[in-house]
Formats: sequence, structure tokens, C-alpha cells
Amino acid sequence: MSVIDEIKERLDIVDVVSDYVTLQKSGHNFKALCPFHTEKTPSFFVFPERGTWHCFGSCGTGGDIFSFVMKQESIDFGAALRILAERAGVTLVAKQKERAVDKEVERLYLINEAAAQYYHHLLLNAKAAETARRHLSERCISKETIDSFELGFSPDSWDALRQHLERRGYKGDELVNAGLVIAKEGGGFRDMFRNRLMIPIRNDGGKVVGFGARALDGTTPKYINSSQTAIFDKSGLLYGIDRAKEAIREQGLAIIVEGYMDVLAAHQYGMANVVAPMGTSLTHKQVGIIKRLTRNLALALDADAAGDQATIRGLELARQVFSERIAAMPDWLGGTSKLQGNLKVILLPRGKDPDEVIRECPEEWRRLIDEASPLMDYFFKTVTSTLDLSHEDGKSAAVAQLLPRISEIADSVEQELYLRRLSQLVGVDEKTLAGKAAQLKPTARERAKKAVSLPTTQASSHPLEEYCLTLLLQHPALRERGITLTPDYFEGTENRELFLAWQNTTDADDFEIIRQGLDVSLQEHLDALVSRVLPQASEREMETALADCTRRLGEQHLRRLKALEELLLSEAESEGDKNVIKEQVETLLQKALEPTTQLKDLFEKARRERKGARQ
Ligand code: UTP
Ligand code: MN
Repeated sequence: MSVIDEIKERLDIVDVVSDYVTLQKSGHNFKALCPFHTEKTPSFFVFPERGTWHCFGSCGTGGDIFSFVMKQESIDFGAALRILAERAGVTLVAKQKERAVDKEVERLYLINEAAAQYYHHLLLNAKAAETARRHLSERCISKETIDSFELGFSPDSWDALRQHLERRGYKGDELVNAGLVIAKEGGGFRDMFRNRLMIPIRNDGGKVVGFGARALDGTTPKYINSSQTAIFDKSGLLYGIDRAKEAIREQGLAIIVEGYMDVLAAHQYGMANVVAPMGTSLTHKQVGIIKRLTRNLALALDADAAGDQATIRGLELARQVFSERIAAMPDWLGGTSKLQGNLKVILLPRGKDPDEVIRECPEEWRRLIDEASPLMDYFFKTVTSTLDLSHEDGKSAAVAQLLPRISEIADSVEQELYLRRLSQLVGVDEKTLAGKAAQLKPTARERAKKAVSLPTTQASSHPLEEYCLTLLLQHPALRERGITLTPDYFEGTENRELFLAWQNTTDADDFEIIRQGLDVSLQEHLDALVSRVLPQASEREMETALADCTRRLGEQHLRRLKALEELLLSEAESEGDKNVIKEQVETLLQKALEPTTQLKDLFEKARRERKGARQ
């Protein structure tokens, strides 16, 4: 549960509102003189069961506890969140942690950037860096690449970096925290990197968070990295992502290679959609980062790695992350299928790194990318190359390895093609295989269970609102249509806030800009929506989805208003105060329905029908 939901659940809106307003009981609900405008008869209502409030007077607005406190105190969402979190006894972990370590983290960035500059300066100027410069020139790494990636050189010294940074006012302990210096047992420090080619690693915002350091004299291990710090977490970083982001989005394809040097070569030769993990197999987080940018991922693999268990695990993970569905996606979109991203494998010539292929012949690299095989083909290949299919054991092992994967293919035509292929491969009847595959297919419940355990999917109290936002955030082409939506459609303050931020942003393509202006808990909400997987669809299909979604949001809004109207009328009947309240109802409806005439028509029609039914 998000902190926002948790706060809503723990606090009673009646308690909160009572702090500011004297409430009078009115049936199941409460009413009061509206705190937001001057009036003589109460038209401000609180609905405890829904956790909402509404003013039927000249404000005509409403919302939940957050919007109430925001309006009452004239504060923004973040400030309201802090007030209410405290009241609810909910710790704002992200916020608190952020504030406490904010300064420290800022310092870690500064230290790493200062270190990168120092190493870079040495690479360009120091005599001792001659070997490093030669290594780079032998590998045809250009001056532009060296500069733009800020490559560097760490001198063969126990304290050169520390001395340099201490002169700039950083303390030894801070350098240890930054992962660049090691605290010796019994006191004292020593530099972490000595006599190595230094490769600064940046997060997707472009900040240096650590280093990869390559030995230049055959020392093992060949690479060492910064130790884990508050800002350097290998499992969540992709080398090159800061420069690859745009290209990945534009080309609709991310290419994953193994090594830092491969990334450098690719970028230098104009292929900027290339990134690398930090020397480990792909993690959930890393695939998640890519998934936000594109649904198409190609992994470059050494032919030798085929069938390698770690490789297969990495691919399986990527496949899983790419096929996760959004738990809260409305069923009416029928969006359970086609969610699988497009995962391919680029098979490299035996014993060759992308770095070598690209350098020798960039055209060859492009051809390999064009010819990348779908993941399932790759699995078939590994099975045929590692198992003896002339024997029964080999055949059943092949079925055991391939069938579960085939059963998870969402597209039924594609699934049938692979079933046929497996049937031919092992000589088992296709129908038998299909039957077994159907048994293996994860049930809806299993899928839901899986989805719930994922960090990006949460049970939500406003699935439709969130779905609509997801559409808008992920499809810049929908902006023109979406921008005219009314914020009133979003009842959850967190969703309304995100919508407003998106509506007001100068660059809807750049989540970062939207993100910057948001409170941390809203940032988390934004991240969750941005990383949701929507079915792949054409622009037209997306437009239809948005139109559908808008209509439904409108209806939902309408239903809320109708429920309120009825409530008010019954109230009026019991109090004999009909005329006044009826007037209020009329004003409310006028105001509430202003945004779209279409909605007004809908509403009027519904009213006429109801009247007709009564008479
Ligand atoms: P490679 O050996 O392919 O590295 O290892 P590379 O970047 O292509 O370097 P060159 O071509 O030999 O100069 C792939 C990745 O595995 C990690 C690094 O992230 C490297 O980029 N690695 C490798 C380590 O972390 N430690 C090692 O000892 C070796
Ligand atoms: Mn290499």
C-alpha cells in the first residue's frame, strides 16, 4: 500500500475536517457552513463512508482529505501529506530518509564528480598515464569519446586521490563513504583504484555515482568497481544509460552488451542505443529501466555463452519483466495479451566482443542487429545444441525446457507455430503438446499473485484514474486530447496532482521535468505509472483507449454527482427546506457539468429518464 492510501485508510475524514469546521450530523453524513466561501445555509458536506467532501454551494468542489487540507491551509500536496502523515502516525520513509541523507548524498555526487575530473585530467596530461593512453588509442577510442565519457587514469599511488580531494575539503571518512577510498584496519586510508583506466559510471540523470576501473598491466581482476554506496548500486545501474536514453526511445530499441568497452565503441560509431549492466547478469531493476523507454530489447551474446546457465537466467528474467502485466488494468480493454515485449538475441561471432565487431566493421554489427533472433528461437537453438535429440531422454528434456516457455506466449498464432516446431523437433503429436501447454499455462490467480509481488504494481483504489494517467504519460501523441480533461475527474488527490503536473508541464516527453516539481511520494506514484506495461498498440488504438477511458471517468464523475444530488434531495425532503437546497443542487450541477457539454447531455438524459420513470 502506498503511504497515500495508508493515510487515507487510517484517518477519519470527519475527525480531520472537524478540526477546522463545526460539523452537524445529517443522516449518515455531516454538513457545515462551507469554510471556503461565505454562506448562510450549510452546503458543505462530508461523506465518511467514501472519505470525501463536497461543497454544493458556490465552490462546487470536493475531494478527499488531502485536497481538503490543501485548500484549507493553502498549502501544496507535499505539505498536506506531511501534516496528515504525522497525524496518522505514518512515517514518510522516503521523505525523511531523503531529508536526512540529502546533504550526504549531494556530497557523494560532488566527490565522485571531483574524482572523475581528477582522473580525467591525469589521463590527458600525466606522464604515468602513457600506457592508458596507448591502450585507448590501440583500441581506436577517440579523443571525443574520452572527453564525452570523461575517461580517466588512476595513478599508482596509495593516497593521490585522497590527497587531492582532501585539499578540496573532503574528509577521509566521506571518501570511504563514496566508495573511492578504503579505511585500513588499525587506522589510515588507502586509495581504492591504482594504475587503472577509470570509467566513470553515471546514473540515468547523468551524475557520476561510481567507477569501473580496468587494469592496464594484466593484474587480476581485470575490472574492479566502486564499492556499494548510497548512490552506487550495481543492480540498478546501466552503463551508458544517461546518453542512451534518448536514442533508445527514438529508435524503439535498446541493445544490451556485456562490457563497458562495448558501450564506448558502439556510441563512438554512432549507435547510441547501447548500454551494459555492471558485469553481472541483468536484474529486475535494470530491465525495468529499459521497459520505461521501449518494449524492444536485444541482448548481444557471445556464441560461446549460448546455453550458459547465467545467460539463460538473465534472459528468463528479462522475459519475465517484459511480460509482466499491469494488475490494475481495466479488463474492458481486453488487455491481457500482447503484453510481451519484443526480446531478441544478437548472436556474436565466436569469441568476439561487440567492441571488436563494431571497430572492424560497423556494417557487420548493424547486420547482426537486423538478424537478431527472437528469444524463443534462441531457446530452440540452445536446446538443439546442448541436447541429444536422437534419444528419448534428450527429447523429454527438450520438452521440459521449451514447453513452459511456449505456454507463456500470449499470441496464440505465435504459440501454435512454436508448438509445431517443437512437435517436429521431438516427434510428439502437436495436439498432445498443446494439451500439456494448456495445463502449464499460469492461471489468472497465479498471474495475479505474481503481479502483486512486483514492486511496480499495487492494488489501487482508483484503477481507472491510474490507467488514464498511464496512457497520457506513456503516449505523448495523446497529449492534445488528454490536456482538455478536467482535473475534477480525478478523485484521488495523488492522481489529480499528477494530472495537473502533466497538464502544466512544458515538456510532456520528459518525465524528469514533471518529476522535479513533485513531492517524493508523488514521484513514487509517477514512477509506478510510468513503468507500467501497456499493451502494444497503434496510435489509433491508443486514442480509442483514451476516449473510452475518458468516457468512463466522466460517467464515474457523473455517478458521484448523481449520488450526491439524490442525497441532497432526500435531505431536503426531511428538512422541508426544499427550495433552498434545490437551488443549491442546480448551481452545483451547472458548475460541475460546465467542462463538457457532452457530459451534460448525458446527465440531462439520465434525469429525464428518471423523471419519466417516476411519473
Ligand atoms: P569484459 O571482459 O568483456 O570487459 O567483461 P570489456 O569491458 O569488454 O573490457 P575489455 O574489452 O577486456 O577491455 C564484461 C564486463 O564484466 C565486468 C565489467 O563490467 C566488464 O565491462 N567485469 C569483467 C568485472 O566486473 N570484473 C572483471 O574482472 C571482468
Ligand atoms: Mn571486451
